[in-house]
Amino acid sequence: MRLLLLTGKGGVGKSTIAAGTAALAAASGLRTLVLSTDAAHSLADALGCGPGVVGAEPVEVGERLFVQQVDAQLRFEQSWADIQRYLLSVLEVAGVDPVAAEELTVIPGAEEVLALLELRIQVLSGRWDAVVVDCAPTAETLRLLALPEALGWYMQRVLPVERRVVKALRPVLTRAAGVPMPGDGVFDAVERLHAELDEVHALLSGPDASVRLVLTPENVVLAEARRSWTMLSLFGYRVDGVIANRVFPAAGADDWRAGWVAAQEEVLGRVGDSFAGLPVWRSAYRAEEPVGLEAVRAMAADAYAGADPLAAPAGPGPFEVDRTAAGATLRLALPGVSRGDVHLARNGDELVVTVGSYRRLLTLPAGLARFRVAGAGVDDGALRVRFVEDAGEHHHPGRDSGRRAAPGAERSGG
Ligand SMILES: Nc1ncnc2c1ncn2[C@@H]1O[C@H](COP(=O)(O)OP(=O)(O)O)[C@@H](O)[C@H]1O
Ligand SMILES: [Mg+2]
Repeated sequence: MRLLLLTGKGGVGKSTIAAGTAALAAASGLRTLVLSTDAAHSLADALGCGPGVVGAEPVEVGERLFVQQVDAQLRFEQSWADIQRYLLSVLEVAGVDPVAAEELTVIPGAEEVLALLELRIQVLSGRWDAVVVDCAPTAETLRLLALPEALGWYMQRVLPVERRVVKALRPVLTRAAGVPMPGDGVFDAVERLHAELDEVHALLSGPDASVRLVLTPENVVLAEARRSWTMLSLFGYRVDGVIANRVFPAAGADDWRAGWVAAQEEVLGRVGDSFAGLPVWRSAYRAEEPVGLEAVRAMAADAYAGADPLAAPAGPGPFEVDRTAAGATLRLALPGVSRGDVHLARNGDELVVTVGSYRRLLTLPAGLARFRVAGAGVDDGALRVRFVEDAGEHHHPGRDSGRRAAPGAERSGG
């Protein structure tokens, strides 16, 4: 099953291209679902479906082509309700105004992330050969899917203990602390949400998934798309191409249009440089809005120019581990980043990678956790971290302080 996400700034043409890409996939024989998690649903409009036709369940709009617009608010209430109710009860005891409390329990971007839980349901249903996702305006929210990984340690080791302790002491604690202790329902909800988000992250960073960036040839839009590429790679998502939409056709240009054509050509040159190694597909600015199945399919067909829009992702993914004689090398794609922008730290079996304002807590594969970091570098759009066997630990297998005993052994190498 092929999973493709389209993301990019608002208004660049994500919904139109998502619909067109899905229409092409369906035409090629794949049972295809195009699903929107963007609260500003325009998928149905792009496909020219009348009001009320497309809803929160997949609806067939063409041969093998289904459309679904996830009700983000509803998903949010289903997944977050138990946790939120508990937080609200605590805040109420603390004397916080109910309206303010309601606001405090809302996480920005949470709705869009929870909308992605629908993706998990659809993928698990086994109904589809391809799922095309019309994503929220920025890829920002995909970052939140790495939350389960970051909370992994807490969830595995602390939460179960807390749960048992709270269960045993709930009556006493509630009286002593004066705030209600979380009940089983809250723990269940937290655990379920954690597991489901983790699964969605695994699906989206898996071998059959990729993200495609949609942009228009404008400097501001390009700058954001470049940041998205870095951020998506950091969090383990594979970006497989760029679609430059609304490109002015050069033919028959008057002065005004010729000016725009030249300006766009300049930015498109920079798009090519910025996304070196990725295909950049061009989609012409049409004389009218592409609305309806035929129109969006024709537009996508022109843009992909014969390339299979759902071809299996090729080349190495954003994250790889290679075993070497002395240990292993971890490679994490970080396009557009130089060594100075990256900060690296080791925290037990986690590698903490910080790029600008983004931080990922990367859980090291089991085999790597016992190695120490011997060096790291950034080149060719990727971070490489060298791990070597920690000789100290092997000479003293019974000494668990071996790591600390060697000063500097945990240095990240730069
Ligand atoms: N290549 C194009 N030529 C002409 N109009 C386009 C083109 N691509 C998109 N549009 C129009 O631009 C508007 C925004 O497109 P849409 O796909 O809804 O963007 P997004 O989902 O990124 O917000 C729509 O009215 C759409 O019909
Ligand atoms: Mg849209």
